[in-house]
Amino acid sequence: MTANTIDHNRARYNFEGIESVWLFGYGSLIYKVDFPFLEQRPATIRGWARRFWQGSHDHRGTPEAPGRVVTLIEQPGARCKGMAYRVSPNVFEYLDVREKNGYLRFSTTMTFDDGSHAEGLVYIATEDNEAFLGEAPEADIAAQIAAAAGPSGPNSEYLLRLAESLRALGDDCVHTFAIETHLLGNEPVAVKDR
Ligand code: SIN
Repeated sequence: MTANTIDHNRARYNFEGIESVWLFGYGSLIYKVDFPFLEQRPATIRGWARRFWQGSHDHRGTPEAPGRVVTLIEQPGARCKGMAYRVSPNVFEYLDVREKNGYLRFSTTMTFDDGSHAEGLVYIATEDNEAFLGEAPEADIAAQIAAAAGPSGPNSEYLLRLAESLRALGDDCVHTFAIETHLLGNEPVAVKDR
């Protein structure tokens, strides 16, 4: 699949007659909220783990020196905390462009902090997109992030703002915090259970 997912996403869902849609954000959609929303609630999705395995050639890197941004990887038992937004369907016209470098919209069930659930959408960059970089040691990911920058700014800003937002949400994303620790030049904290 080509990295540009705009047309794929536009063909995926018919929003006719739908007033609002829940969108689950787990990466920059948590801290860079440059779209209108009707409601915002912390939420969790199950069975997916946040990983810096997607390349960014257009926002936080360049085609010559891609950065790394997050996607979700299926992992039984995993939980991913993020922010859910209830948006008007026309907001996807903008979001599909923002998330065009490999991300497709998928349906998901999200659980809010009070235990209630909602069905909604989440952008995931799957392994078969051209910009997918895949697994690497967290120290190497940190080094790549430290060296990359693109039109949206330094890749390190993406990582550090995400880590800050996850802390504010009370999340313990071991992967993100380990990369942050490497990037900041500190010794990673030993972790028993990933
Ligand atoms: C998201 O934030 O939900 C998708 C990945 C990103 O835009 O960083």
